[in-house]
Amino acid sequence: MGYLRAAMRDLLTREELELLPAGFDHIGHVAVVALPRGLLQRAGEVARALLRVKGVRTVALRTGGVAGRLREPRVEVIAGDPVTETVHRENTCLFKLDVARVMFSLGNVFERARVARLVRPGEVVVDVFAGIGQFSIPIAKHARPGEVYAIELNPVAYRYLRENVRLNRVGHVVRPVLGDCARVAPRGVADRVVIGMLHVTHEYLPLALRVLKPGGGVIHYHESVPSKLRFERPVKRILEAASGRGVEILGERVVKRYAPGVDHIVIDAKIGPAEHESQKNFTVTYVT
Ligand SMILES: C[S@@+](CC[C@H](N)C(=O)[O-])C[C@H]1O[C@@H](n2cnc3c(N)ncnc32)[C@H](O)[C@@H]1O
Repeated sequence: MGYLRAAMRDLLTREELELLPAGFDHIGHVAVVALPRGLLQRAGEVARALLRVKGVRTVALRTGGVAGRLREPRVEVIAGDPVTETVHRENTCLFKLDVARVMFSLGNVFERARVARLVRPGEVVVDVFAGIGQFSIPIAKHARPGEVYAIELNPVAYRYLRENVRLNRVGHVVRPVLGDCARVAPRGVADRVVIGMLHVTHEYLPLALRVLKPGGGVIHYHESVPSKLRFERPVKRILEAASGRGVEILGERVVKRYAPGVDHIVIDAKIGPAEHESQKNFTVTYVT
């Protein structure tokens, strides 16, 4: 039995216990919990139970999913310290963020460590939707890449990205870039591309291919997909985008359950050389 259920066992009715979520997110000193409508009148008791968890000083209620292109979370502090800026530790990396302003998915923890283990010394990596550095920081810290370009559009996330580069002492290798990846991502430079903007990642596959070196490289492609279409739809999309280039699917995995019947998956695909040599003419453009 999870902590929340055990803590609330004597306080809630059996029907209310059925509604209780199995867990909560513990990000730095903040506990974030999603409660169904039928339990909202019990939010105070749930918050008091969460404030007893070691390291929790703030309890926030998730009031909706992440919103819009900038993936802004919808959370509201309901108990404890009103400060939602925190430092979260994961795999020896430090992530400073404001839990109420930028997204951070604990469900991706294994994937972040996994990708960092795949990076070979000297590789150039482009993290196309970098957020606060969820992939760039562990890659820079645990692998020995030549360079990691971390592209981020949301100025708030970008500020934390830069702060996290500093906190983790990886400024010699991570190049934070502020702007729309379609415009500012460097072309023709990468051995490896991480690309994940669920719901629309496929629209950026042509960009990911242009970001790779003309000789090709590996892409880690994230998608939210109905469970019955995994891994067929994402692989098909990669093959279509790369038509005319060789493609080798190196791996397929479910990162997490995204919603009932919908998975967040990642495909590791090795893309062969570009048909045309024109990519050699692309220049590296980035803003720091
Ligand atoms: C789903 S989050 C992923 C963050 C991180 N890579 C992770 O795995 O947790 C997507 C991020 O991409 C940013 N973003 C959205 N559109 C973008 C664009 N066109 N160019 C660059 N970044 C963008 C959002 O602000 C958000 O921080």
